[in-house]
Amino acid sequence: MLEKLDAIGAQALKEVEAASSLEIVEQARIAYLGKKGALSEVLKGLGATDPSERPRIGAAANEWKRKIEEALEARKSGLESLELEKRLREERIDISLPSRQPHKGALHPITQVTRRIVQTFARLGFDVTTGPEVETEFLNFEAVNIPKDHPARDMQDTFFAGPGVVLRTHTSPVQMRAMREMGKWPVRILCPGAVYRCDDDATHSPMFHQVEGLWVDHGVKMSHLKGTLEFFARELFGSGSQIRLRPSYFPFVEPGAEVDVSCFNCSTQAGSGVVARDSCRVCKGTGWIEILGAGMVHPRLFEMAGFKDKSLTGFAFGMGVERIAMLLHRIPDLRLMYQGDVRFLSQFS
Ligand code: PHE
Repeated sequence: MLEKLDAIGAQALKEVEAASSLEIVEQARIAYLGKKGALSEVLKGLGATDPSERPRIGAAANEWKRKIEEALEARKSGLESLELEKRLREERIDISLPSRQPHKGALHPITQVTRRIVQTFARLGFDVTTGPEVETEFLNFEAVNIPKDHPARDMQDTFFAGPGVVLRTHTSPVQMRAMREMGKWPVRILCPGAVYRCDDDATHSPMFHQVEGLWVDHGVKMSHLKGTLEFFARELFGSGSQIRLRPSYFPFVEPGAEVDVSCFNCSTQAGSGVVARDSCRVCKGTGWIEILGAGMVHPRLFEMAGFKDKSLTGFAFGMGVERIAMLLHRIPDLRLMYQGDVRFLSQFS
């Protein structure tokens, strides 16, 4: 039996030392030291041996077990360090390779331009306020002096969300909300937000953005409106910009005006542009670009707001953010701004 043990032990050591992988080491452990391994199998015959021989056989078996375990351990750590060396060699980082550039996000051009507009007026003391996009027909129209039969109320222009409820067609109802909520003057607010109209082509989208401004106080005059908008135009379109007011009609202002800024693209009197005026596509050769609507708040709105002081005056203006973004960035088609094409958007990061 001792000879058998010696033979098995010697064979085991040989196999373990020659093992070329951790799996083979494990297989050898099971084959020799496992419950059904060669060593255990031999020891099953122990009962049949001479009792006086048993201690020696037991001691020899233990000795082999210890040696095999030692050999297994040694081989295992040897193989592990070989494996580690191999990995270190193969997985070394090549610091000379160019790195991958992370994709950096950016604010949408509409958000960027809205913020520029808001920041410009904030410097003059305007507070930002907002109103709901789903608005009552009353606040969207009547309260801002748009009568029932006004063409702007036509189904073709307005999205109705229910009886007496519309998707606001402009940010002007926020004027009324602000005056009613504050209940006192001065009111000096700016309202950016989305508005909706049934319109869809290269320069009109069913959803677009406006910024509305309102300044109500004693002694607010048309000249304040003009000075405010001139400041705005110079901040946004360049310090050489001029503005001009053309008489126009909006039900909520009297008098009302459309406001143009001098073309920054071509060589006008004030403009710094380089394109010849005749071939300028931005102002179509007129030297002026329409940028917003404005005027002195119609007295009817003060009545609607519950302001009883007849000597109150105010001015209001409203502009389309997309239009200004298209002008500033020479964007040829409004729809580009809603398509989410990264090739377009990444130009604004
Ligand atoms: N609400 C007008 C529009 O949507 C813009 C405007 C606002 C005009 C305030 C005058 C005064 O076209």
